[in-house]
Amino acid sequence: MKILITYFSQTGNTEKIAEAIHEVSSKNHESNLKRIKKVKIEELNDYDLVFIGSPCHDSDLAKPTLRFLKKIPESPKYAIAGFYTHSTYLPEGDERIKKLSEKWSGKCIATFEELKKEKNANFKGYFRCQGIPSPPIEQFIHDTIIKDDEEWVVFIEEVKKHPNGNDIENAKKFAQNILSEF
Ligand SMILES: Cc1cc2nc3c(=O)[nH]c(=O)nc-3n(C[C@H](O)[C@H](O)[C@H](O)COP(=O)(O)O)c2cc1C
Repeated sequence: MKILITYFSQTGNTEKIAEAIHEVSSKNHESNLKRIKKVKIEELNDYDLVFIGSPCHDSDLAKPTLRFLKKIPESPKYAIAGFYTHSTYLPEGDERIKKLSEKWSGKCIATFEELKKEKNANFKGYFRCQGIPSPPIEQFIHDTIIKDDEEWVVFIEEVKKHPNGNDIENAKKFAQNILSEF
């Protein structure tokens, strides 16, 4: 199989996940790892499976990724899988945490899912994990989303560890599961 892992990443979090997926897919397949800006949409036709990765920006996938997804034709002949990193809460916890997660990164999932409905793509699913925020985003999250100081200390200490070894392992398992389906 020919596999492409293409991603946008400003501060390296999403890139770490892309590299983990590439490590798995290059074991038994021809696998290429490329930044999204280096990929022409027609090139995707050379692949059987394309992993597309992005950070979450403004609760959706980042603009360069959105522009790239828009260019994908209807009924592409390659299968697609997604991955993204984000700095706000994962949807694990009470109703408030789930709502915050939905508000601040839920659109990423919806955007990937739209590939199925709007482009009739063979979409294989997505992987997500947290990623350390850059200082301005850290400040934004504290000022806007998690204002309570006690909650903030616990939150920021944890999110700064990501993507951690566990996230990398989970990303590899995600890739492995998709590859074994083919
Ligand atoms: C302009 C900007 C907007 C962001 N908006 C969100 C957001 O809405 N929700 C969120 O969870 N994280 C947000 N983040 C945090 C990033 O998604 C997170 O740090 C990500 O892991 C960065 O990935 P990268 O290192 O691959 O660029 C934002 C970051 C930037 C720079």
